[in-house]
Amino acid sequence: MNNLLFKLARNKLFNISIRSLISNFYYTYKKVKYRKYRSKNNLNFDWNKQNFNRTALLNFIISCHSKKTNSRYLEIGCQNNLNFNAIGLKSKVGVDPDIGGTLRLTSDQFFKQNRSKFDLIFLDGLHTYEQTKIDLLNSLAAINNDGVIVLDDFIPRNWKEHFTPRVQTNWNGDIWKIAFELVKSKGIDYRIIPIDGGQCVIFKNSNEYYIPDLGSKYKDLDYDYFFNNFNKLSVIDLDSGLRWISESLENKKI
Ligand SMILES: C[S@@+](CC[C@H](N)C(=O)[O-])C[C@H]1O[C@@H](n2cnc3c(N)ncnc32)[C@H](O)[C@@H]1O
Repeated sequence: MNNLLFKLARNKLFNISIRSLISNFYYTYKKVKYRKYRSKNNLNFDWNKQNFNRTALLNFIISCHSKKTNSRYLEIGCQNNLNFNAIGLKSKVGVDPDIGGTLRLTSDQFFKQNRSKFDLIFLDGLHTYEQTKIDLLNSLAAINNDGVIVLDDFIPRNWKEHFTPRVQTNWNGDIWKIAFELVKSKGIDYRIIPIDGGQCVIFKNSNEYYIPDLGSKYKDLDYDYFFNNFNKLSVIDLDSGLRWISESLENKKI
């Protein structure tokens, strides 16, 4: 009997099933707990049908950058290095407190000690508005003038992908609130490209940039606000987005 239990405990498949059972149970409980925030609205993007994901976008940006493969890359939140290892650069820094990347730190710990500048920064760490806003402000200080910042997961398609704290595994979080601040920003150019969870691409056009802090105003905004105001955001299709990126980087060449 002991032998059987020991074998079961060591069985990978068994462990995965137990873990997914526990997480299914946990997230069902969360969905019930937060049911008053449910919304029937949803955006019909099928990320799986597009043959262009965040990694393709980042590699496209590198191909347009004047430094090409000499560009310096920073990724915040690396997990299993799915994206990090597919970035075609040699100079890469990956920051994650748990797994993957090159530095076992939180983004706050990293930026506190960082003195380097980067040409491309990909923000994919903790997907809350508060943390990603801090990560963005720190990135704006750490990006070269002709550099690009990309933020992952700007388009939650339904309330479950948006709701914070998370109520399911597939989670964008409420970082979309930053998009409404970017609408009112100065010295910053941004577009949201509707691929792979929604990728927000940012250029710093001036060192005198300004992003309003609407955190307290946006604190309690729900998914319906995002859905009803989605057309106010600079969302452009993939082709136009790639053209905008290559033209913007061309204009930044000295
Ligand atoms: C969505 S995953 C990243 C996926 C990866 N970028 C990719 O595209 O394959 C988010 C990661 O952020 C990490 N993370 C959570 N909080 C963080 C923080 N404060 N600073 C940096 N990374 C954080 C998690 O450990 C997790 O590995």
